[in-house]
Amino acid sequence: MALDLHDYVASIPDYPEKGVIFRDISPLMGDGKAYKQATNQIVDYARGKGVQMIVGPEARGFIVGCPVAYELGIGFAPARKKGKLPRETVKATYSLEYGTSSLYLHKDAVKPGQRVLVTDDLLATGGTISATIDLVEKLGGIVVGTAFIIELKDLHGREKIKDYDMLSLMQY
Ligand code: PRP
Ligand code: ADE
Repeated sequence: MALDLHDYVASIPDYPEKGVIFRDISPLMGDGKAYKQATNQIVDYARGKGVQMIVGPEARGFIVGCPVAYELGIGFAPARKKGKLPRETVKATYSLEYGTSSLYLHKDAVKPGQRVLVTDDLLATGGTISATIDLVEKLGGIVVGTAFIIELKDLHGREKIKDYDMLSLMQY
């Protein structure tokens, strides 16, 4: 029988700052059955979209994207923060609550025309995933879907990526 994945999310009030409820997926990852169920749901979604490559942002996007790529027998490329990728990269800048940050992707990570799924653990404002989408598109990839374990509805990240198909396994 299917598990209720909500039972595997820890909600921590006032972390990392007052007023924020941190939604922690480490209990889900720490339980083999829950992790597999979440992964399989994203695998099914990716199969339906004919995904050929997965790209996920540092760090929790790796946790979601890598097992999906493994199960599908396709590649995974990490979008990383400054100074982490050793070869030629493309760069995308995005807004944080205060200031900006940037993500980078190796130039040969995605081939032009490749059908790409972008993954992360959680959609909040949508800044991180929009930057990841930009990176894929700079390389000529086609973002055929986005997948998250958690969507924070109040932050309206979905509106920022409204031109893209999206799967979220849980909403808060
Ligand atoms: C968190 C989370 C998402 C992002 C969502 O990552 O894992 O990547 O925030 O927020 P957004 O939709 O407002 O961009 P964080 O930047 O904390 O980095 P980490 O994964 O390295 O902890
Ligand atoms: N990233 C951005 N907002 C978050 C939240 N509320 N919980 C976990 N990760 C986050």
